Amino acid sequence: VTEGFLPLREWVCGHIASFAGFRPTSEQVLITTGSQQALDLMARAFVDPGDTVLAENPAYFGAIQAFRAAETKLVGVASDAQGMLPGALEEAIQSACTPVKLLYLVPNFQNPTGATMTMERRREIAHVAARFDLPIFEDDPYGRLRFSGEEIPAICSLPEAGTATYLGTSSKILAPGLRVAWLVVRDPSLFEKIVPLKQASDLHTSAFTQQIVHGFVSDTTRFGSHLSALIAAYRERRDAMLAALGDHMPEGCTWTRPDGGMFLWVTLPESIDATHLLQHARAHKIAFVPGEPFWLDAPKRNTLRLNFSHTPAAKTGVGIARLAALIRGCS
Ligand SMILES: Cc1ncc(COP(=O)(O)O)c(C=O)c1O
Repeated sequence: VTEGFLPLREWVCGHIASFAGFRPTSEQVLITTGSQQALDLMARAFVDPGDTVLAENPAYFGAIQAFRAAETKLVGVASDAQGMLPGALEEAIQSACTPVKLLYLVPNFQNPTGATMTMERRREIAHVAARFDLPIFEDDPYGRLRFSGEEIPAICSLPEAGTATYLGTSSKILAPGLRVAWLVVRDPSLFEKIVPLKQASDLHTSAFTQQIVHGFVSDTTRFGSHLSALIAAYRERRDAMLAALGDHMPEGCTWTRPDGGMFLWVTLPESIDATHLLQHARAHKIAFVPGEPFWLDAPKRNTLRLNFSHTPAAKTGVGIARLAALIRGCS
């Protein structure tokens, strides 16, 4: 079945209801081959070449690739520590040169910045989008990976966000190699456009891997303890990285303090180009992702993304000390 293995779609409904503040029905769920396929399908189903798509700036690079491959015009909307700025969103909608078809958001522990949009901001953004009849596309791969702070309901749970589409994945809570994700479309008639595109692309997501995912997650006790173990490990690794940054980074560097997810975002003194820094970093056996490709416009080359979830806490201090020494050498 192109829409996916029914028991998995039913599990997705309960899973989303357990933390996101809304409960979809299985008819609203389409299983996709990773979130990346859903990004590609959404870009092709909702947006015509030349149309405008609005997103946070910086934004997730895989989404940038999907929307650019569909020849859309991606425009970045300014954010602060609370998330996208409603005034900037309104201005971007009004000043767009081509029809604005979609607002792409990663409200929880965003990739690349680690920032989380507050409840108030979610409401304000949903309100602006509703006023301009702009569909929201909420991408939430990290929502279950919260280590601190209060759970915040998804934008999709808000009455203002009636037409919003939600995307979740097994990649960050189970295994990215399985390529099993879920797209929740509130108006199932939209599947008339999306399902034929998926059929043309791969007929359906591997029934075998869907059943592997279902077999694991439907054992509530095992899945619950797996999630708790992940959260505990990633919290320890985040804390180790934040402590090491505080101990070693030179004056003039700032970084985000994510409440979950996998990444944090560092801003270096303006004179330092993170892409150049990476070339030297390799010789010291450390790596990071330079910030430049995540910017939709006006790239801030003095930014970089650090992943904290991969490295055991005991090794993080060594890596951050080496990074700090390199930055000092450039200043
Ligand atoms: C915001 C965001 N969306 C989507 C994806 C893609 O996930 P998947 O492995 O499900 O394709 C990622 C992966 O890093 C991500 O950070």
